[in-house]
Amino acid sequence: MTSPATRRLGGLAPRTRWALGAGALAVLLVVLVVVARWAWGQPGVQDFVARYPGVATGAESDGSPAWVGILHFFNLFLMALMIKSGLMIHNTRRPAAHWTRSGRAWLARSRKKPATITLEQWFHVSLDLTWLVVGTTFFVLLLTSGRWVRLVPTSWDVVPNALSVIVQYLSLHWPQDDTWLAYNALQMLTYFATVFILAPISASTGLRLSELWPKKAAINRYYPIETARAIHFPTMWIFAGFIVVHVVMVMATGAVANLNHMFAARDGDSLVGVIAFVVTLAVVAGAWFAARPLLLRPLAALTGKVTR
Ligand code: HEM
Ligand code: HEM
Repeated sequence: MTSPATRRLGGLAPRTRWALGAGALAVLLVVLVVVARWAWGQPGVQDFVARYPGVATGAESDGSPAWVGILHFFNLFLMALMIKSGLMIHNTRRPAAHWTRSGRAWLARSRKKPATITLEQWFHVSLDLTWLVVGTTFFVLLLTSGRWVRLVPTSWDVVPNALSVIVQYLSLHWPQDDTWLAYNALQMLTYFATVFILAPISASTGLRLSELWPKKAAINRYYPIETARAIHFPTMWIFAGFIVVHVVMVMATGAVANLNHMFAARDGDSLVGVIAFVVTLAVVAGAWFAARPLLLRPLAALTGKVTR
């Protein structure tokens, strides 16, 4: 049963609810900063930070090669459009068109009825399949190049080091680590969770929702489509939350050097990374605004039949 108070809260306009949520987060952050700054003065905390400065044992691998930056770019580009197309699916009551797979004869014969999906779903799933190729390439190169040591913890000291980094950030003392050489333990854990937990959850629930999933698979009894739907949507919010914090931290902890690492495969304070980042943002913004039914319909018609 909902109390009158929760009913009133539920009745608030979305904008008011967002403002209240953001306000509450800001207050929480200020309280945490005050507590952490007090803790910083305590000798026990000083000893702890000296013992665990922030980088987990075995996390070092020198530099960021170009393939990391290129795949990070494609991931970022596709992720923006996947969020946009996912929200289009979520909010569209009257689809802009429908798409039916035309396929080759053998493909068409393989199922009784060709699948028909909305234009929004076609757009989302086309991006998803591209993202799966980018993600698989990243997994393979990460594991075979030895770079995985930056993202996968191999020592339990990742936990106290991550705690130490949290105390350092919250007390506004930036850790003295060099991310060209190794990520700090908090970065390691969040990147690990994004790449090895969140992305696979999003992909497997998304595939379960899609027409690509076999309708009569034995596993469907234990993995109903409703379960996938209930998980898939919140994963978008977790991705969005990660991206906001990730970008704020990139900008707040030496933006020029960080952007050089990921957008220009180099260390140092030249402006190449910043320029590459601005170009990236322009490309993403252009694609975001171009992704409308007017352009999507002819694109979808290249691979199937589009009907209004
Ligand atoms: C391989 C990866 C993915 C696949 C195959 C996939 C597939 C799908 C499919 C088929 C739907 C339509 C569900 C329906 O019509 O009920 C859907 C909905 C959606 N997807 Fe994905 N998706 C993937 C990744 C992502 C990612 C990474 C995001 C965002 C970060 C995302 C966000 C959404 C959202 C917001 C919806 C609408 C959900 C709703 O209205 O409940 N998807 N996805
Ligand atoms: C405007 C958007 C973004 C910016 C400016 C950005 C920037 C960066 C930078 C600078 C680094 C290297 C950090 C360092 O050297 O300290 C990095 C690493 C990383 N970012 Fe992003 N990023 C963005 C979006 C994303 C998105 C959308 C995702 C995934 C959903 C993501 C996932 C990652 C991961 C997993 C790493 C570690 C990769 C590795 O080193 O192998 N980023 N990002």
